[in-house]
Amino acid sequence: MEPQITDSDLSEQIKAATKDSHVRAENTELMLSYQRGRVTLQQYKLLLCSLYKIYEALEEVLDCNASHDAVAPIYFPQELSRLPALRSDLQHFYGRGWREQMQVPDAALAYVQRLQQVGREHPEYLVAHAYTRYLGDLSGGQVLGRITQRSLGLQDGEGLSFFSFPNISSPKLFKQLYRSRMNSITLTEEQRRAVLEEANTAFQLNIQVFDELQECVSCVSETEPAVRQRHTPQTQSTAADVGVCEPLQGSLSLMPRLLRTLLGVCVLLAVGMVYAF
Ligand code: HEM
Repeated sequence: MEPQITDSDLSEQIKAATKDSHVRAENTELMLSYQRGRVTLQQYKLLLCSLYKIYEALEEVLDCNASHDAVAPIYFPQELSRLPALRSDLQHFYGRGWREQMQVPDAALAYVQRLQQVGREHPEYLVAHAYTRYLGDLSGGQVLGRITQRSLGLQDGEGLSFFSFPNISSPKLFKQLYRSRMNSITLTEEQRRAVLEEANTAFQLNIQVFDELQECVSCVSETEPAVRQRHTPQTQSTAADVGVCEPLQGSLSLMPRLLRTLLGVCVLLAVGMVYAF
């Protein structure tokens, strides 16, 4: 039997409070490309890079606050953890040197900073962040997984681990359990209002990541044709598989390395010619 959910339950309030934000997120250029089946390999790879940084921060702050009264009920690392899946997808696309090649938009770094701040100062807001990402992944995210597979012609689930939750047999039942756990969290009225606000912040942070990512993809696409080919897995590493990821910042940082090298050579040639004549 489904648990009884009422209007005063956090799960219902958060859904109602973020309804407009959800519509805005669905209507970002990136999500529209997805829904039209026009996601490119480049978009998907950049999305995975951003999600990696976001989940690295989210899962770290959840782990650190696992015994907090407002976190313990919704702490499901076995079922929900996305970090190992993202690592495996990134390795599939970038090879063993994926950490060095990751390209992360500034907006993802702002998201990471907010998660770390919430983890330190307001662990009771973490329910808003966990809800926004994990329940999204278990809802529309499942459809996005199938679209990605079809659009990019990915075989046998390769590069698609992010969308798969092997320890959840029924997303529908798990979401019911998750909502009932959310409803068991005790919050003051003030905290409850702040949690609802934080959920909208979480959606907004996602929207900013999608928008920046789309901008970067568009600016690269102006200089090279869209990468919308069938993907072949990356088996060889192009960089050492060690070291901390140094996030690249701004849209220039997302310009492919080859293009930047070519630009550098052109500038050197131009300077050389000025001196020669
Ligand atoms: C193409 C984009 C998207 C589509 C088509 C989509 C679709 C859906 C659908 C159909 C549901 C309802 C599932 C159900 O009732 O069981 C849902 C729920 C949800 N989605 Fe999305 N979604 C999209 C993007 C997003 C994004 C970007 C986020 C957040 C980052 C998000 C977060 C959520 C959340 C948190 C829920 C759970 C709502 C609740 O039951 O309280 N979605 N989505």
